Amino acid sequence: MSADQIIIRDEVSEDVSAIHELTKIAFAPMPFSAGDEQHLIDALRADGELPVSLVAELKGEIVGHIAFSRVWLNGNPGDWFDLGPVSVKPDLQSRGIGSQLINHGLEQIKQLGAEGCVLIGYPSYYGRFGFRHDPDLTFNGKVNANFQHITFVGETPKAKVTFRACLSQSHATSSLRKSPRQGKHKNESNFSLLPKRYFHRQSLQPLVLTSKETSTRPRV
Ligand SMILES: CC(C)(COP(=O)(O)OP(=O)(O)OC[C@H]1O[C@@H](n2cnc3c(N)ncnc32)[C@H](O)[C@@H]1OP(=O)(O)O)[C@@H](O)C(=O)NCCC(=O)NCCS
Repeated sequence: MSADQIIIRDEVSEDVSAIHELTKIAFAPMPFSAGDEQHLIDALRADGELPVSLVAELKGEIVGHIAFSRVWLNGNPGDWFDLGPVSVKPDLQSRGIGSQLINHGLEQIKQLGAEGCVLIGYPSYYGRFGFRHDPDLTFNGKVNANFQHITFVGETPKAKVTFRACLSQSHATSSLRKSPRQGKHKNESNFSLLPKRYFHRQSLQPLVLTSKETSTRPRV
């Protein structure tokens, strides 16, 4: 597969079940997953809350997907977005498809007037796209080291960010979305379940799941 064989395009109605299945299989091995990411996308779409939904197509097959929805800042709707879920078919990961989806998606939300974008995910992965953690921008009012943002317009606001209802419910059940102090022991053991490839470089930091200590201590 070469990068130029991948087509990134908006989803169409015929893609819906393929997106559901792809998301399910991509997240299934992830220890932080609540197992409901595919349902979140369906719920956002059903609620008309999926302004950007892109697929990566390879030879007619859907091999990647990314969703963006709008968030509230301090209880007000605005022009900030949430990135995710994002999925790539497991046997095609680490070939740049996720990066293409993220870069295209960020461009697309800018076209919609986005002032910034938040996400909850791996700092070591999303940092390469310019995402950073800032304690002044909180997830539901709580500081979470996995909560990151990129600002497109002006200064980064000091704000409490809240998500669409279905996303908020999921965030409450995913270990990645809990504040680092919660579920310490569970998350510690989750590290050992992460696929080895996530740590294949010394420079890559593992997920910040439980404490400041885990964010800085290399695991391999
Ligand atoms: C995360 C995901 C979308 C990335 O897609 P991808 O096509 O594999 O990503 P790319 O090929 O663009 O980038 C691969 C790079 O990201 C790195 N990477 C992937 N997952 C990573 C992680 N969890 N932590 C750190 N780095 C990671 C790879 O090591 C690789 O590094 P390299 O470029 O230095 O070789 C994909 O791995 C996936 O679907 N994962 C399962 C679902 C998931 O976890 N989604 C994100 C939730 S936050």
